[in-house]
Amino acid sequence: MTDVFEEIDQIAGIAARKDELLSLHTSFAVGGPCDLMVWVSDIDALKRLLALAKTHSLPVMALGNGSNVLVRDGGVGGVVIRLVDDFATIEAEGEHIHAGAGASLAETVSKATSSGIGGLEFLAGIPGTVGGAVVTNAGSRDVWVSSRLVELGVLTDDLTARRLSPGDLGFGYRHSGIDKTWIVTDVLLAGYRCEVEEARHKVEEYLNMRRTTQPTGENTAGCVFKNPPDDAAGRVIDHAGLKGSRKGGAEISMIHGNWVVNTGGATAGEILDLINETRDKVQDEYGIDLELEINVIGRD
Ligand code: EPU
Repeated sequence: MTDVFEEIDQIAGIAARKDELLSLHTSFAVGGPCDLMVWVSDIDALKRLLALAKTHSLPVMALGNGSNVLVRDGGVGGVVIRLVDDFATIEAEGEHIHAGAGASLAETVSKATSSGIGGLEFLAGIPGTVGGAVVTNAGSRDVWVSSRLVELGVLTDDLTARRLSPGDLGFGYRHSGIDKTWIVTDVLLAGYRCEVEEARHKVEEYLNMRRTTQPTGENTAGCVFKNPPDDAAGRVIDHAGLKGSRKGGAEISMIHGNWVVNTGGATAGEILDLINETRDKVQDEYGIDLELEINVIGRD
């Protein structure tokens, strides 16, 4: 390791691995290596990491669960952060859920449900972390996590811990105005009190809907494109006859036109080629400009 990576590795509360392949940490199962991957356990370790990164002008990014991202084959320069331990706690009180940014969204929904908190069921089946869900404003077609957000904790790049309200953050459909240099640390969500059975029933309905209409369990990153106004990207791609199209190991799902599946051995380049080709065909045929919903990062 270079000196700065050695220094990061020695911070208490950080486990580090150099040249870690991001294909091991993304739901598409593609992506080259990052310079350093770190698993950060607590806020002090995160502060020390960000301070060192700043001194050495090292880029940092939080990866979350890697489930809404396409990492290019050349990987990512700098430090990729996974938030664990203190950042993965989930507490329920009254109608509120307080979760660390690294907590699994599925476990958060499950905790809400078993605690008799309703209103978060629409998040069931989304595979990300809580932090990732808030940054991307994940949700269903019409209801997004920002509608349940009370407060957000972030650590800014000048190491200030700030508490922010949704109104400060410019949320929209699959969009947030959370500054790219900030690391989300924790999230306070509010639901409403309800019977456990009622919440469980709704969760089951959402999960069943996803199982029947989406290629769950495959190597995907969820919907590739945002829905265009008053239409659905999946419907348009289906109508254009593009389901089943392939580039190497990448395929447009036969189950849902807005999902690309790595059927085994696909590269990020193949996935990206398939996505670009799909976008061009839809533009030519229907004059619709599809906008990416997934985050494409890294170098070729
Ligand atoms: N459709 C087709 N063919 C297809 C796929 C869909 O004709 O191959 C039609 C459906 O019949 C339906 C319409 O298109 O009439 C919309 O499809 P669907 O109900 O599956 O919802 P969606 O708009 O494609 C949105 C979100 C999903 C979310 C679901 C369920 C976006 C881009 N997608 O999908 O979010 O899970 O609603 O609430 O907003 C994601 O963000 O990654 C994601 C998967």
